[in-house]
Amino acid sequence: MAIEKLIQSLPKAELHLHIEGSLEPALMWQLANKHQVVLPYQSVAEIEAAYQFEDLQSFLDLYYAGADVLRDEDDFFQLMWSYLNKCRQENIVHAEIMFDPQTHTERGIGFEVFMAGFERAIAQARQQWGMSTLLIMSFLRHLPEADAFSTLEEARPYYDQIAAIGLDSSELGHPPEKFERVFARVRELGLKVVAHAGEEGPADYIWQAIKLLEVDRIDHGVNCQQDQKLVEYLIQQQLPLTVCPLSNLKLKVIEKMDHHNILQLLEAGMLVTVNSDDPTYFGGYLNENYRQLHAALGMNTAQLKQLLINSFKASFLPESQKQHWI
Ligand code: ADE
Ligand code: ZN
Repeated sequence: MAIEKLIQSLPKAELHLHIEGSLEPALMWQLANKHQVVLPYQSVAEIEAAYQFEDLQSFLDLYYAGADVLRDEDDFFQLMWSYLNKCRQENIVHAEIMFDPQTHTERGIGFEVFMAGFERAIAQARQQWGMSTLLIMSFLRHLPEADAFSTLEEARPYYDQIAAIGLDSSELGHPPEKFERVFARVRELGLKVVAHAGEEGPADYIWQAIKLLEVDRIDHGVNCQQDQKLVEYLIQQQLPLTVCPLSNLKLKVIEKMDHHNILQLLEAGMLVTVNSDDPTYFGGYLNENYRQLHAALGMNTAQLKQLLINSFKASFLPESQKQHWI
């Protein structure tokens, strides 16, 4: 079978997806009208045209502004429902979905609003087609550690709905060590730990995430090749990286897709996975990321199959459920 068909038809897991980064321009437009939010755009086409980024920060500025249209429970339901339907179309059978509570609580929108919307969509997808999901609550690293502590406390009634805690937003200048104490508390609570590291930041930030936060996975991690000892450690420990090729291209972490190092890391024996990060902002959902790896880097069928196996291996599913897909 041609590789394009395999990409579409084989079952996949997605492990690095920000739900706020799956907000379609058409839904942003519709919700802005619903809540009378003034957007700096005159049409859906203008929103799409604005998605040209110089770096991570230039993207985050638009991403946080876009999230301002999300106001009530039904908005969060629609956001989640829309992504879960994409999963169904793309044969993503399991998704580990990140959300940024501080983006909403800072605007006066509480956990009871977004968690109810998310849970309604997740339950409906589980009932209708057996969709499997886990939620990852992420702290915004440009804010102080004290805010992460209070967010963790506000989330207390929802701990049984949260599988892991992550760390995202502006990486440079906000190293993992800033959050060492709050992640010690997260681990005491028995939650898994992930952190964005080595996206724009140096290999040392990946070491900090490993040694100080004791992460179960690294989000991005593409800068690991700056340090050969780190590369060896990641291979030896089989510590997963959730890599996002289209994101790296759109945020100019790489100049061209054929410069991406994901297949080098895979061939070196690292547990790398493919993910979409913020698909509506970066021009493609998960399958488009795989298609571009084939088009630009010549990813072959064996590599595709290994990446798909890795997506389940690196997931937080119980072992028995992982084996079902591998
Ligand atoms: N939040 C959403 N997408 C992100 C990314 N690629 N890096 C850091 N924080 C993010
Ligand atoms: Zn991300």
